[in-house]
Amino acid sequence: MIKDTISIKINKTQNSRIAEVDWDNLPFGKVFSDHMLVMDYKNGAWQEPEIMPFGNLSLHPATSAIHYGQSIFEGMKAYRNDNGEVMIFRPDMNEKRFAESCERMCMPVLPEGMFTELISRTVDVDRDWVPQKDGYSLYIRPFLFATDDFIGIKPSDNYKFVIFTCPVGAYYSQPVNVKIEEHYTRAAEGGVGRAKTAGNYAASLYPAKLAQAKGFHQLVWTDAKEHKYIEESGTMNIVFEIDGKLITPSEDSDTILRGVTKRSVVEIAKHWGIPVEERKVTVEEIVQAARDGKLTDAFGAGTAATIAPVAKIGFRDELFELPGLETRTTSNKIKKYLTDLKSGAIEDEFNWMLRF
Ligand code: COI
Repeated sequence: MIKDTISIKINKTQNSRIAEVDWDNLPFGKVFSDHMLVMDYKNGAWQEPEIMPFGNLSLHPATSAIHYGQSIFEGMKAYRNDNGEVMIFRPDMNEKRFAESCERMCMPVLPEGMFTELISRTVDVDRDWVPQKDGYSLYIRPFLFATDDFIGIKPSDNYKFVIFTCPVGAYYSQPVNVKIEEHYTRAAEGGVGRAKTAGNYAASLYPAKLAQAKGFHQLVWTDAKEHKYIEESGTMNIVFEIDGKLITPSEDSDTILRGVTKRSVVEIAKHWGIPVEERKVTVEEIVQAARDGKLTDAFGAGTAATIAPVAKIGFRDELFELPGLETRTTSNKIKKYLTDLKSGAIEDEFNWMLRF
């Protein structure tokens, strides 16, 4: 059941594009569903949201988000179970993180529950776009950006909140090769690393490009001060396995994004009695474990990436090849559990799925 407490203007398209979709070939983030939701914030209040045909937004050239980067977003996914119900994975977690990003970026926070209701009602309008096939889902992209048409540095008075959705397949179609980055920095203590803000991704592009030229898909970021501690990977959080323990950087610094998938991995593993250590993780211990053949697994966890096995880790002049995927019992089991949960094949014992 979804909540239906907010008055939303609904203007449905007369020209659905759904018949044109090649459901067996869904490149990530390139196919867009029929509708989007747009809600403005002005005069200190959220205005009536509107669900309208998906299309371009018209912006003033001085729109402050473009110049000064007051822009945040979330990534979430909806799935369809065998009964035809649509299920969204842990929207409450994204709602909370979105509110935290708003606070950090001086943006107005949506009243509690509004984010999740607007997400589910937008998805409901395009529920026919939610794929049912294994490995496919409807990616949901809510975002908020500053719309003052003004040159100057101050929090905007006006904002636009938008939700659009994309039927998607895998973000990574193969195991990823990552490089431990010791020069460039994603986030520093006191900065905005914990916020899901657009600029964090822009700042990562150049170092990622350099790594890609050397054959890596992604970087593993280290702390800004000493480049001694592992933080996260470019598009996902990162988890290692050494001596049967899952080890992952703790999120109590303000430099690491609080990942919903990573949190779920930790909660599932603990529930199964698998030892999990969330703490500061040194580059040295990971590299030494890799050298000693004790690094039995490393994987990324993210909404887009899901559980993405790491094939190779680069560190300075060394390149470590990790064990074959068939040996990675724990992450394979967690991945299967999450896939089964999201397809409705197993009971939702943690009550994580919002279904309608
Ligand atoms: C997500 O996982 O939803 C993200 O926003 C990361 C991006 C690589 C798509």
